[in-house]
Amino acid sequence: MAKTSDGWGSRIGLVLAMAGNAVGLGNFLRFPVQAVQNGGGAFIIPYFVSFLLMGIPLLWVEWSMGRYGGVRGNHSTPFIVDSMGKSRIWKYVGVFGIFTNLGIISYYTYIESWTLSYTFQSIFQTFHGMDRQQVSAAFNTYAGIHGGLKDNQLDINFPVVAIIVFLITLGINIYILSKGLSGGIEKVAKIAMPLLILFGIFLAIRAVTLGSTGISGCSTCNSHVGLNFLWNPDFTSLANPKVWLAAAGQIFFTLSVGMGTIHCYAAYIKKNNDVALNAMSAGWMNEFVEIVLGASVVIPIAVGYMGLDWVKENAGFMMAFKTMPYLFNQWGAILATISGVAWFGLLFFAGITSSLAMGTPFMGFVEDEFGWGRKKASIVLGFIILILALPTILFFEYGVFDEYDYWTGTVSLVIFATAEIILFSWVFGLKKGWREITRGADINVPVIYKFIIKWVTPIFILTIFITALVKPLNGEMSDWQTAFHQLFSKGTWPWANDSIIAQVFHLKEKIIYFKNGTPTAMFFKDMSRLLLLSTFLGLSYFVHVAAKKRKLKAKKIAS
Ligand code: PHE
Repeated sequence: MAKTSDGWGSRIGLVLAMAGNAVGLGNFLRFPVQAVQNGGGAFIIPYFVSFLLMGIPLLWVEWSMGRYGGVRGNHSTPFIVDSMGKSRIWKYVGVFGIFTNLGIISYYTYIESWTLSYTFQSIFQTFHGMDRQQVSAAFNTYAGIHGGLKDNQLDINFPVVAIIVFLITLGINIYILSKGLSGGIEKVAKIAMPLLILFGIFLAIRAVTLGSTGISGCSTCNSHVGLNFLWNPDFTSLANPKVWLAAAGQIFFTLSVGMGTIHCYAAYIKKNNDVALNAMSAGWMNEFVEIVLGASVVIPIAVGYMGLDWVKENAGFMMAFKTMPYLFNQWGAILATISGVAWFGLLFFAGITSSLAMGTPFMGFVEDEFGWGRKKASIVLGFIILILALPTILFFEYGVFDEYDYWTGTVSLVIFATAEIILFSWVFGLKKGWREITRGADINVPVIYKFIIKWVTPIFILTIFITALVKPLNGEMSDWQTAFHQLFSKGTWPWANDSIIAQVFHLKEKIIYFKNGTPTAMFFKDMSRLLLLSTFLGLSYFVHVAAKKRKLKAKKIAS
C-alpha cells in the first residue's frame, strides 16, 4: 500500500468535482430520452421516488464507504469493500467498481469526442444552410455509419476524422488524469461546471420562450407542448414495473452510484471531514441540472419544430447530433452558432468531468497496490481504453456499443449496488455505518434514513435487480400477469429480450455466428462479451495478486 499524497484542494473543489462526476451526458442525452420513452410525466414520479429511496441513501453510503477506505489507505473499491467485510470474497465483488468504469469510459469517451468535434463544427458553421436530412447525413458520414447491415459484407466503420478526434479526446483525459486530483480534475471541474450551467440556462431560456413555431399543419409544434408532456404527472405509471425499471436505471446512471467512482473520489477525504452535506450538495446539483436543464433543452426544442409525435417516435440520444444543429439553424446564423457552441460545449464539459471520474478507480488501484506513479497509471489506462473502445467504434453498427452499454452501463451497476448495500447495512452493520455517515457531518441526517438504508433501499434495489433479471414481454403490469398465468399453466416464462437471463443465454435470439462466411451481429455481440468478461477476469487476477502482496507484507512486518 503506497501512501498517496494526492487529495482535494478545497471543499468547493471536491463538491464541484463530485457534481461533475455525476452531471454527464446522462443528464442531457439519456434522461430526456428515457422520460419520453416512458410516457413523459409518467416517468417523473417513479424517478423521484427512486431518487429519495435509492439515490440519496446510496450517495451517503458510497461517500462514507469511500472515506472509510481512504483513511485506511484504500482508494478503489476492491480494497475499500475488503476493509469493511470479513469474507475474502468481497474484494472480488469490488472488482465491479473498476470494471464498470473501464467499460463505460470506452464508449462514453467516443460520444464525448463527437461533442468536441461538433463544438468546433458549430464554430466553423459547418451546418450552416443545411436541411434536416443533410445534418443527419453529415453525422452518418462523420461516424462512418452506413445504415443497415448487408449480407456477405463485413461492415466496418472506419471514420478517420472521428477516430482522430477520439484520440485527441482520450489524450486530453489522460493528460488531466496524470495531473492528479487537485492539480487536474479539480481545476477542470471549477471551470467546466459553472460554464456548463451557464450554457444550460441560456439554452433552457431559449427553449422555454420558443413557444409555438407556427409551422403549418403541425398543431403540436410548440415547445410548451414538449414541456407539458414531460411535466404532467401520471399516477397510473406507479403500477407499471417497466417505468420503475427505467426510472431506477436512470437514477443509477445519472448519480454515478453503483459504479465505484464516488467511493474513489471520497477516498481522498480526511477522516473527520463532512460527507453528509457534501453528498447532498453534489447530488442535488445533479438533479437540478438533470430535471431543470436536461429536461428543458432537447425535447422542448425538438417538439417545437417537429411536433410531439415525431419526437415520441424518434427520441434517441443521437437526436442531439442528428437533429439539433438543424433546429438551431432556424434561429439564424448568429444564434445558430452561439447555440451550437453552447449545446455541444455543454455536452463536452458534462462528458469530460464524468469520464475523468471513470478513470480514477483504475488509477487509485494501481497506485495503491503496485506503487505506480500517476503518469504511468494514466498512460496504461489510456491504452486499455483504446483497446476496449476500438471495437465500439469500428463495429458500431453491429451493436458493440449497445452491448457495452447494456452490461457495464445497466447491469453491472445494479449488481454492485445490491452487494454494497447489503455489505454496508448488514455485514459492516448499520450501527457502524450510521456513525460513518454522520461523523463530521455539517447537517443533521434525518433519522428516518436509518430505517431506509437498513430496509427500504436494500429491498428496493433487490426488487429492481430481480425484476430486471426475469422481466417478461414488455415488462408492463399486464405482461407480468400473463407471465405468471403462463408459468402456472404451461410451466414456461415469456422472457423479455432485454431481461438479463434472456440476454445471458440468448433465449430470444438465434445463435448464428456466420452467414455465407461473413460474421453476423451475434458474432460481434458475443465477441464483445468475451472481451468484457476477460477484462473482468483480468482485473480480478490483479486484485488476487495485490491481496497476496499485502499478506506477504503483513507477515514481514509481523516477524
Ligand atoms: N453520471 C454520469 C452521467 O450522467 C455517467 C457516469 C458513469 C459517471 C459512471 C461516472 C461513472 O453521464
